[in-house]
Amino acid sequence: MSNSNVTVCVRFRPLSHKERKGNDKVCFNKLDSESFVFKDERDEDVIFSFDKVFYDDSEQSDVYNFLAVPIVADAVNGINGTIITYGQTGAGKTYSMEGPSILHCNELKTGLVQRVLNGLFECLKTSANITTWTVKLSMVEIYLEKVRDLLDLSKDNLQIKESKSQGIFISGATEISIMNGSDALERLSEGIANRAVGETQMNLASSRSHCLYIFSVQHESTPDERVRAGKIILVDLAGSEKVEKTGAEGRVLDEAKTINKSLSALGNVINALTTAKPNHVPYRDSKLTRILQDSLGGSSRAALLCCCSPSWSNSPESLSTIRFGTRTKLIKTLPKPIPTEVYSAKKPSPYSHDQDDLHDGTLSKADSIQSEASYPSLDSCDHDYLRERLLSKLRLSLKEEDVDLLEELFVQEGIIFDPDKVVLDIDSACHDAASQQIAFLVEAVGELSETVQELTDENETLRHQLEVAQEIAARAQCAAAERSGGSLFGFVPAAVLRLVGFVPD
Ligand SMILES: Nc1ncnc2c1ncn2[C@@H]1O[C@H](COP(=O)(O)OP(=O)(O)OP(=O)(O)O)[C@@H](O)[C@H]1O
Ligand SMILES: [Mg+2]
Repeated sequence: MSNSNVTVCVRFRPLSHKERKGNDKVCFNKLDSESFVFKDERDEDVIFSFDKVFYDDSEQSDVYNFLAVPIVADAVNGINGTIITYGQTGAGKTYSMEGPSILHCNELKTGLVQRVLNGLFECLKTSANITTWTVKLSMVEIYLEKVRDLLDLSKDNLQIKESKSQGIFISGATEISIMNGSDALERLSEGIANRAVGETQMNLASSRSHCLYIFSVQHESTPDERVRAGKIILVDLAGSEKVEKTGAEGRVLDEAKTINKSLSALGNVINALTTAKPNHVPYRDSKLTRILQDSLGGSSRAALLCCCSPSWSNSPESLSTIRFGTRTKLIKTLPKPIPTEVYSAKKPSPYSHDQDDLHDGTLSKADSIQSEASYPSLDSCDHDYLRERLLSKLRLSLKEEDVDLLEELFVQEGIIFDPDKVVLDIDSACHDAASQQIAFLVEAVGELSETVQELTDENETLRHQLEVAQEIAARAQCAAAERSGGSLFGFVPAAVLRLVGFVPD
């Protein structure tokens, strides 16, 4: 497949009991492990291809091995990664993430969350170079456009922030240090119990919120004594739904509207990112897109699992999910520097304030050390810090949306800088100034050569007049000498004298 930034796979779950009972037909024809044929809305066969297609007989481990193993390896090397499950309600997103149950399920059915955790610990424990490490987890949900901490329900409106060193992060989210997979699952099951889930006609345990599992890894390795930090975010989205099918009413209807709105914001972001030269990517239109800004915008590895029902009765929704996947596959953002948190244990870091939010474990402020590589200058870090301070002050008295609007205004007016745009702006400003200067010089040179041409012409006329005058004068002198008497100009015609500027009275 193409060298897109995002790995995109499709997964068809098996027909459900209800669908089998209703004698539902299957809506696709398998071609191979990457392609299938699907009828579009005009009843025409269309071939769709993805990085991988998981059919109804696929195992949970197949999904993990293809989609998540590279992301786990990258995270241990300090590269952030995101895996998103997307699709219609009841299509198998939560099943792919958690399996039938996060705590009690057999090995075969274990979902991505548990496998990613085990994979992380496996990598850390078996790597000969890694000397010390910490793994922390956070778990939040976006419910009715608020970010809630699922590990501490008192934090029900967390703020999404951005800094040069961390990129986008959820400020104040609870972080728990974990030592092994089973430790983590206990805590995650508490979080899952806190998640908003409701019953709809399409799914008995429908997720009514987008859920994010965030695993932060930090480790020190020999022989360079570097500390590397990486992050994996697993996103189990709430499903898109047609309310007439799910039978949503009251609160469930409000939830459905908010879910559909944020999913369409996600679609708009994908559309903007796949436009040739996007002027504006509307990341700030929803909490979901803001949180996923780094993942979709090219700063970290991303994988999308498009979950589909195989049933003919759900084919319009499945087609829309498949098209979303096709569109996402077109994202080719310029690789931006990954928010790096690689430190060498040799000199103290001046940026430890940025580290405080994320890391309180093994590395103390004094230990957190900046590497020699090209990391943000002190000025830009200070700039970030001041920007965050200003915005935090505003957040005390204003609503988040208003602060976002003000922030955009401040960036436009140059009161604060958009960290992503600073370098671009300086470049384009230099480019503008240089072009202006060149245009000015070209114009001046043009004017100068016109003047030179005019003077040359004038000079030529004068030289010619002078020659004529000299000749006349010479003749006049000769004539005067011969006649030895009379007026000097007596014999010169008046027209000739006028031509050379001598006009006798
Ligand atoms: N690959 C699969 N194999 C077996 N059962 C599956 C599979 N995928 C989904 N299911 C079953 O289908 C039902 C719906 O799945 P799930 O809850 O994961 O849907 P969802 O996409 O998360 O929906 P929602 O958006 O409403 O949360 C569940 O009973 C689940 O066990
Ligand atoms: Mg779900």
